[in-house]
Amino acid sequence: MKKIGTNDLREEFLKFFEGKEHLRMKSFSLVPKNDKSLLLINAGMAPLKPYFTGLQEPPKRRVTTCQKCIRTGDIENVGKTSRHGTFFEMLGNFSFGDYFKEEIIPWAWEFITEVLGISKDKLYVTIYLEDDEAFEIWKNKTDVDVDRIFRLGKDDNFWEIGVGPCGPCTEIHYDRGDGTIRNVDDFLKAADEDRVVEFWNLVFTQFDKDEDGNYNKLDHPNIDTGMGLERIATIMQGVDNIFEIDTVKNILAKVSSLSGVKYGEDKDKDVSLRIITDHVKGVTMLISDGVGPSNEGRGYVLRRLLRRAARHGRLLGIKGLFLTEIVDEVVKNYGGAYPELKENQEYIEKIVSLEEERFNETIDSGMNILLGYIDELIKDGKDTLAGDKAFKLYDTFGFPYELTEEICDEKGLKVDKENFEKEMEDQRTRARNARGESSYMGSEELAINKIDASVSSEFVGYKSLEVTSKVMVLANETEFIKSLSAGEEGFILTDKTPFYAEMGGQVGDNGVILGKGLVAEVYNTKKNVGGKTIHYVRVQEGIISEGDEVTLKVDKLRRNNISRNHTATHMLQEALKEVIGEHVNQAGSYVDDERLRFDFTHFQGLSLDELDKVEALVNEKIMEVYSVETNLMTLEEAKESGAMALFDDKYGDKVRVVSVGEFSKELCGGTHVGNTGEIGLFRIIGESGVAAGTRRIEAVTGFNAIKFIEEKQNILKDACHALKCNDKDIVNKIMAQNSEIKEKEKEIAELKSKLTSGIEEEILKSAKVINDIKVISYSLENVDGNALRDLADKIRNKMGTGVVVLVSNTSEKVNLVSMATKDCTNLGVHCGKIIKEVASIVGGSGGGRPDMAQAGGKNPEKVNEAVEKVFEILKSLAK
Ligand code: ALA
Repeated sequence: MKKIGTNDLREEFLKFFEGKEHLRMKSFSLVPKNDKSLLLINAGMAPLKPYFTGLQEPPKRRVTTCQKCIRTGDIENVGKTSRHGTFFEMLGNFSFGDYFKEEIIPWAWEFITEVLGISKDKLYVTIYLEDDEAFEIWKNKTDVDVDRIFRLGKDDNFWEIGVGPCGPCTEIHYDRGDGTIRNVDDFLKAADEDRVVEFWNLVFTQFDKDEDGNYNKLDHPNIDTGMGLERIATIMQGVDNIFEIDTVKNILAKVSSLSGVKYGEDKDKDVSLRIITDHVKGVTMLISDGVGPSNEGRGYVLRRLLRRAARHGRLLGIKGLFLTEIVDEVVKNYGGAYPELKENQEYIEKIVSLEEERFNETIDSGMNILLGYIDELIKDGKDTLAGDKAFKLYDTFGFPYELTEEICDEKGLKVDKENFEKEMEDQRTRARNARGESSYMGSEELAINKIDASVSSEFVGYKSLEVTSKVMVLANETEFIKSLSAGEEGFILTDKTPFYAEMGGQVGDNGVILGKGLVAEVYNTKKNVGGKTIHYVRVQEGIISEGDEVTLKVDKLRRNNISRNHTATHMLQEALKEVIGEHVNQAGSYVDDERLRFDFTHFQGLSLDELDKVEALVNEKIMEVYSVETNLMTLEEAKESGAMALFDDKYGDKVRVVSVGEFSKELCGGTHVGNTGEIGLFRIIGESGVAAGTRRIEAVTGFNAIKFIEEKQNILKDACHALKCNDKDIVNKIMAQNSEIKEKEKEIAELKSKLTSGIEEEILKSAKVINDIKVISYSLENVDGNALRDLADKIRNKMGTGVVVLVSNTSEKVNLVSMATKDCTNLGVHCGKIIKEVASIVGGSGGGRPDMAQAGGKNPEKVNEAVEKVFEILKSLAK
């Protein structure tokens, strides 16, 4: 057996199957396309499902890949053992109705025994209980010792994930022991003890399992194999876990040197070292495939991995930000196999450090909240932190549950884990519902997703907006139908179509389908899961039936508006690169007939000056009247020509490159103007942040840009009208008014203070002495409640001793306030009682404390009576 590095092993596998006439395809993105049943790609076959079921034509009937995969089933266990990982690579070879068992079994044997040179004495084979055919092939077409073949049941040798393509399988196992096992019981025992490890699964994909549990036979049998690259590497490198193979070990060594913690000396610290190693690998791959941290779906998986890694860094005693250094090590080890990692490295590191920084901030606030909860518990004599509190810390502050548990434990407290988990489960349900997840390929219940791959639907809409074609398929939501009549809605597929189906951020076309006596509105156009163009129609007049010749007409004005926005989006991307830097990469885009939205990587808001420059550059290029050209070429040619490509490079024979003069060149399947002059005008209408490290620009073009400017002009006109000036003077006028207002405000404040100081003197002079108590009862005009109280307070202070009642008329009500000094309340004066009686005279009510009370009334004409009443009350008090 030869010792071989992980990167070479990958290459050997792919080369071997290329030698067997397989097309080598690059790993698909971790983000599934058209498959809502999956959050992340979790097996080599997952991105290839439509080829197995016949919904899409594969580029070749034999394909081999090394697929990036993430399994998140038990993130919690990663690191605790040395066998679990989240990110892994799956080597696979696939036959879409081409070769079957006869070929794959001897090939697999050839690869492992001859190419890799694994000793036959160390290998076992398992097959599905009833699969005599596989047994015969193993026996006759390879030289495996038949005593080493074990038959197992459905749990072990029938491969399926939920619903979808599946079938019986045969697996190949390696014995780390002496290779002498000859019966099934010993074999199963050794497998349980991890002495025997399964490393290659060959699935005979013959069924498509549906939602009701039926195994529907596929038209043609397929082959799907999967070999965990890391696992075979452990065998080839003579180590017993994935953290010791060359590539992963390099990353672990980096974590170890950064933390100064040696691997293998302390069990708990080993867990942290493994967690950081595994998680940063996953994080790097996810971000490179365009996933950004968020609180749901894939973004949440990313955030969890990132935060768990950051927290374990703290546990190892690492101070400050460190994750990007590990990212660098991941890129060093994986950048050869996945060149996109190198291209995106700067971006990946920026996202990682922003998220790590943010986590470090929140973890401190979370800590304060947790300490608050703990104080409360101790004060209340309780010993368990409620599950919803732990969940809140987790959810709001990204505070890992284990940390909450650990800190509580230090204080002798427990955490209600059951309820915490219930909250987590509720959140998962919410997330699942939000994703609208169904079990397989999303909305496969729709009949249109079952259209056979052989039915053609050619898109001719780059050049023509009107075409005559034949109706091939009609359907309602659940079944195929023969026709649709006036008033009915449904889905239609035609042989040819000028309608662009929603894709790459560009909305689907609208328009009409016309025929003899037929008018049907097309209100949307989308692709089904097999990539075929489906018209969403509403029949207005007549009837449309299978086989009809019809004319399909795209709404031209709308399409042109969409194309203006799409070309402008490309130009915007290039302008952003020129103005703010080459790090700008597309993170998402949306183009319809009214506006365009472009999300891109950048780390702070754009200044007004930058926005002006970007806008001016796009307009300048529009006015250069560049012609816009599209060319088909291979992906390599496209990249060589300097075309910008997104994270998810497309496959297929040729890619489409859209060039805007010499200004911009980009891979794109969308529709565009023929010349930049058609865009007319470009206007940015908004700039905002959408996630850490991602900004968004919204803009309009053509007629919508003109409309936007007109609206602004109308606002200006209205403002001129209101200010009674012309637009040139408007700013001066507003500035003059502002300073005038400031002046006036100053004046008013001065007058007010003069006024009250004069009044204070007068009020104080009005004091009477009634039975040895100094009494003031005084009415004023137009003083509101608060000012009246302040005034009464001042008077009381200046009186030194006494009672003061102030009454004020405003146009619709009366305000009253009463205050007394302490010596007077000791003598029995009670402001609350006084105010109650006085207020009743002016038709109001009120009350308060002995030393201070307030009230309101409704009869301003009785103010004098109220003032007199105060004196009477005090006289009667003295008696
Ligand atoms: N699809 C099979 C697996 O994932 C090969 O094991």
